Amino acid sequence: MRKPIIAGNWKMNKNRKDAEQLITELVPLVKDAKCDVVICVPFTDLDTAVKATKNTNIKVGAQNVHWAESGAFTGEISADMLKEIGVEYVIIGHSERRQYFGETDESVNKRTLKALEAGLKPIICVGETLAEREKGKTDEVVTRQTKAAFKDIPKEELKNIVIAYEPVWAIGTGKTATADDANSTIKVIRDTMAELYCKNCAEETVRIQYGGSMNPKNASELMAMPEIDGGLIGGASLKAEDFSKVVNY
Ligand code: 13P
Repeated sequence: MRKPIIAGNWKMNKNRKDAEQLITELVPLVKDAKCDVVICVPFTDLDTAVKATKNTNIKVGAQNVHWAESGAFTGEISADMLKEIGVEYVIIGHSERRQYFGETDESVNKRTLKALEAGLKPIICVGETLAEREKGKTDEVVTRQTKAAFKDIPKEELKNIVIAYEPVWAIGTGKTATADDANSTIKVIRDTMAELYCKNCAEETVRIQYGGSMNPKNASELMAMPEIDGGLIGGASLKAEDFSKVVNY
């Protein structure tokens, strides 16, 4: 019903030569994947990645996009620029951008609207910090982030959007949310989508990934949970063999 989707987020890693090498190794390892496979690479690797994945089942994503068409926005990249070079997905609102680069619920929504208009597929990240979790605010935070991200987004676009639930305290720390915890928070997000759109859309169309120290060892347990439709993988996406094991969970 909902096709699983495993995406690698390389973050700020790998020059062009490394990128080409990793992709060359990865292509044969994931060619029979049952899920959608995406690699989200730094801007400077996008062109290399698009070329190296041509005629394969691997799709390419960027890690951010601006909401304006063009103009005086030094250091930013537009949705049309990404689309033009063959990029298909884009991560929006990653917690590292919220934490270090002033990303807000509102800017996440603006970027998402623009990405969709250009025909890109957003991977929208939500997730609570450790402090929020300890105060028992997890459900409240992911509900608020989800509602804000989807403001003015029509139902017809849901098939083009992926949500990634990434508890901030689990990112790069080796601490994974338990499969049950991840599943129940993703259920909260799905219920929010049902409230915003409709129960069927939330259950049949909306794909929600888990992200945060997901790796070859824990992927199958996480992927076995009924609400978890995939993963957004950081560290373990930087080696072809590890990433392929997650993809072939
Ligand atoms: P890690 O898999 O390194 O914890 O990173 C997760 C993440 O932030 C993916 O976007």
